[in-house]
Amino acid sequence: MSQIVLDGMSLITPEAVARELGPQVIADPNPAAETVRAQLALVLQLAEQRFLAGDNVMAATSRINEDLHGIRSRVSPQVWKSFIPFVQNHAVADFLLQDPFVRWSFEKPRGYSGDAQLLDFIYRHPSAEGAIAAASPVGQQVYKVSSAAQSSAAVRERRDLLTTYVDEVAATHGKDAEILTIAAGHLREANRSIALQSGDLARWVALDQDPLSVGSMVRDFAETAVTPIDGSVSGLLTDTYQLGQFDFVYAAGLYDYLPRKVAVRLTKKCMQMLKPKGMFLFANFAAGIPDDGFMETFMNWSLLLRTEAEMWDIVNASVDRNTVDAQVYYGDNRNIVYATIRKNG
Ligand SMILES: C[S@@+](CC[C@H](N)C(=O)[O-])C[C@H]1O[C@@H](n2cnc3c(N)ncnc32)[C@H](O)[C@@H]1O
Repeated sequence: MSQIVLDGMSLITPEAVARELGPQVIADPNPAAETVRAQLALVLQLAEQRFLAGDNVMAATSRINEDLHGIRSRVSPQVWKSFIPFVQNHAVADFLLQDPFVRWSFEKPRGYSGDAQLLDFIYRHPSAEGAIAAASPVGQQVYKVSSAAQSSAAVRERRDLLTTYVDEVAATHGKDAEILTIAAGHLREANRSIALQSGDLARWVALDQDPLSVGSMVRDFAETAVTPIDGSVSGLLTDTYQLGQFDFVYAAGLYDYLPRKVAVRLTKKCMQMLKPKGMFLFANFAAGIPDDGFMETFMNWSLLLRTEAEMWDIVNASVDRNTVDAQVYYGDNRNIVYATIRKNG
């Protein structure tokens, strides 16, 4: 495993996200919660039977995903949190973890949640093909469902949306266009950028705290406008890198790990790094996504899911609304919510 030095700004382990969400419940005395727990035991047992029968692994995977979402929505966040170890330790996990995407998420080989290799399973990128080909037939069937899940589709849409924004910025600013990506991962949105391919960008600075991801960008984008930087949110907040100013700054797959206070500090910093009329964008998984229960249990992947109002709250706490044009909107299937803030001048 690579040695990552986490900067303490993002909550990138499930335990850290759980701490942000509130106090731990050891045993819940609420009888209603006990009833739901019994329902949970039943759906897990039924799921196990379906997997043991082996005739329709994809349907069994979809069903447990839906059931976990339903159960999660019926109890308080604290009670749900107390159910998570019970789900993770159930025998049905042995089937679901045969999916290399689910397993990667659960085991966290890079030491934290949501690394760029995990995203490559979502992108169905060639870097994930070997692990999928080596998976058991059950694992491959589960992956068909997990990679087609609404949350996965939304992440692919997010990648394509970012490519579109980058190309639009290049079309507006020509060869002077300057872009900053925070928490860039493998920067897969750059693969389809026409502007990058045609050399129509002055620079595209791509910052990430994981040296393996930075190494991947160095390799993939040699001789292009992309400048990968091994750097962190905390480094940005303390002006460690002297990056200058940009026409477009964005962060995708990062705010889901940032507590409100850090999210506001980072948003303020990003606004300072914009040129006049420049735009900042941040994305967040939306509260209530249908895959929340499955992600938090079998994938051990807890995120700070946000509502539209919580996105606005971050925007409003970060900027003077008289000086910007701000929007909050959902992607196509409403699994990801976006905030854009454009400087007026
Ligand atoms: C879910 S991935 C998203 C990657 C890419 N933006 C995408 O959408 O495919 C999250 C990335 O955030 C990076 N990251 C997490 N916390 C960070 C921090 N505090 N500073 C810099 N990068 C961070 C991780 O290393 C990882 O590459």
